[in-house]
Amino acid sequence: MRKPFVAGNWKMNTDSHSSVELAQAVANSASGLAGDKVNVALIPPFVYLQSVVKAVKSTGVSVGAQDLYFEAKGAFTGEISPAMLKDIGCNYVLCGHSERRHVIGESDELVGKKVTAAIGGGLLPILCVGELLAERDGGQTEAVVARQLKAGLAGLSADKMSAVTIAYEPVWAIGTGRTATPQQAQEVHVFIRRFLAGMFNEKLAAEIRIQYGGSANAGNAKDLMAQADVDGLLVGGASLKAEDFVKIIQAAA
Ligand code: PGA
Repeated sequence: MRKPFVAGNWKMNTDSHSSVELAQAVANSASGLAGDKVNVALIPPFVYLQSVVKAVKSTGVSVGAQDLYFEAKGAFTGEISPAMLKDIGCNYVLCGHSERRHVIGESDELVGKKVTAAIGGGLLPILCVGELLAERDGGQTEAVVARQLKAGLAGLSADKMSAVTIAYEPVWAIGTGRTATPQQAQEVHVFIRRFLAGMFNEKLAAEIRIQYGGSANAGNAKDLMAQADVDGLLVGGASLKAEDFVKIIQAAA
């Protein structure tokens, strides 16, 4: 059975005080669920990672980073290595979030290097994939997702894939309040699973967790999670309020 996995991507939000307060509030209310019935990860900005790691220590809640660089060390001003994240107690890392792809301009190939480097550094990457609105309207959803999966997982053998979570995040649903319907999410999740069966094998495809992301909230979490192939949620806006995020965790558990 695939254990549900809920992650809160705080993006470029919170400050030194509110990040710890939010982490503590989530950890307090989610205790008894987190780690046992559901995997929970908080994904704060880099600069608050260490204090959030400290705030959720021994609570069953994990911490992830929003990005990383694929090189181990050296002259890469502004970048953060897998070993640095591991060193401070980070377990998960987002790779290829749509804002990295479409605002910052990351390529499919760069995302693939990051996924490989994350696993090499002992981290658990969450590979984000998803189509733009024009791509969906143009009937390109499956082609786009297939291309992103192929490049994003290019460096990996099947035995490394147990570290990976896929997040399907249609770009038109992110931060827009326009959630994909549970059926739309389910359709693409099934496509992703079939694609991974072909790229790797059936067993891996049956075991890998696929999160949905894009305006997931306390009101729609249950219906999304009721879909057979939706194994968790990657939550942006609604993860910034402890009360809402805890409701989502409860719905997933
Ligand atoms: P949202 O963001 O929940 O605010 O739409 C999701 C994400 O970008 O991971």
